[in-house]
Amino acid sequence: MTHRAFISAVGHYVPERIVTNSELSKLMTTSDEWIQTRSGIKERRFAADHEAPSDLGVHAALNAAKQARTGLNDVDAIICASLSPEHYFPGTSSFIQSKLGLVGVPSFDLRAQCSGFIYGLSVANAMVTSGEFKKVLLIGVEVHSRGLDFTDRGRDCAVLFGDGAGAVIIESCPSPEHGFLKTKISADGRFADKLWVEFPTMKRTPIMTQSDLEAGGLHPKMDGKFVFKTAVEKLPQVIDSTLSSINLQTKDIDLFLFHQANLRINEFVAATMNLDKAKIPSNIEKYGNCSAASIPILLSEQMQLGTVKRGDLICIAGFGSGFTWGCSVIRWF
Ligand SMILES: CC(C)(COP(=O)(O)OP(=O)(O)OC[C@H]1O[C@@H](n2cnc3c(N)ncnc32)[C@H](O)[C@@H]1OP(=O)(O)O)[C@@H](O)C(=O)NCCC(=O)NCCS
Repeated sequence: MTHRAFISAVGHYVPERIVTNSELSKLMTTSDEWIQTRSGIKERRFAADHEAPSDLGVHAALNAAKQARTGLNDVDAIICASLSPEHYFPGTSSFIQSKLGLVGVPSFDLRAQCSGFIYGLSVANAMVTSGEFKKVLLIGVEVHSRGLDFTDRGRDCAVLFGDGAGAVIIESCPSPEHGFLKTKISADGRFADKLWVEFPTMKRTPIMTQSDLEAGGLHPKMDGKFVFKTAVEKLPQVIDSTLSSINLQTKDIDLFLFHQANLRINEFVAATMNLDKAKIPSNIEKYGNCSAASIPILLSEQMQLGTVKRGDLICIAGFGSGFTWGCSVIRWF
């Protein structure tokens, strides 16, 4: 019988530099009170000048490697989920692979924005259970700070995002009862422009004009209310359908690890689904929204706190630009 895949190691890294809401309020018209009441965020981390996205990813991978019996030696594929790539091409995964000294190991980037880590779980799970790959390193990494508009024009997004990285190793589970029980991913591309960076674009020449630049086209644009409304509709749907497909209910879950986009989104989902708040840890107050890195950072911190135990049922869920969303249910090994 083919065993399920499971997460065998977890690690994370966040840059040292803490940026508080008050610090941001010196750059734009905003306040600690506005940011905290709307999002739950108190501070976030910004990468140092010398830190590239791949550096954050490497730190997270090496921290995960400390938990792995054979380190990263027998990793046979690398996936990097990110919406803030080091370069236009090749993907950040190429730089991570080289810095880790894993030359020859296939590596690729996965672009599913804030759902990137859950999409990555789905892909890595399929790679391992197919028997084609034995040990997949999945990294979620973001350096948002260099792409944000720290003027009043970009303040709706600038206050929400932070930098960080999380990594997991996925391999075949030694036990038939444990591992990934079900992962569902979904998308609705009709709303791609509700949260996006429009330029540069390969859909026309020139790929960016001076006026695009002056209009802030290099920075994220978001219809915040629409994103919020759609997230609180899609998350309960995907959680319910994932759980019911394996005959589980929300009350069976020991720990919900939700993407850290906005505390209010997660509180809304918890209220709608009547979830026990004690089972929904949060770290958005410390890190803001780290997109593809948020969930693995949260998982890694929960592991360090000892809240994740063998046999626990973990429900991971998230929503993001694209729109993309997904849910994964794991029996922890
Ligand atoms: C962005 C978000 C926090 C805004 O909250 P909101 O409740 O919709 O905002 P409000 O309607 O209360 O306030 C909007 C006003 O605040 C202003 N504003 C925007 N950003 C601000 C900031 N950082 N500080 C102060 N004021 C700000 C707006 O200009 C607007 O002003 P106006 O009413 O004069 O036009 C909210 O829509 C949200 O969280 N959306 C989801 C975002 C998200 O999760 N994105 C990532 C998904 S992966």
